[in-house]
Amino acid sequence: MTAMYVCICRAVSERRVVQAVAEGATTLQELRARTGLGTGCGKCVPQAYQVLREELERRQSPAAHHEIAARAG
Ligand code: FES
Repeated sequence: MTAMYVCICRAVSERRVVQAVAEGATTLQELRARTGLGTGCGKCVPQAYQVLREELERRQSPAAHHEIAARAG
């Protein structure tokens, strides 16, 4: 599996963002503090925000995902 980098400047992968959310990060500021993401050129911030939001949503509604998976199967 290849690492999908969200932040090239600080070599922060999407997996690392997901891990940071699992560790308790809920804001871009917390992600930045934990990973250094966005502290270089700053171009990754919109993408990082999207990954953060998607991961938070995924974590808030695991039942919905099970339901979708059940319907698909
Ligand atoms: S790509 Fe993240 S700070 Fe430059």
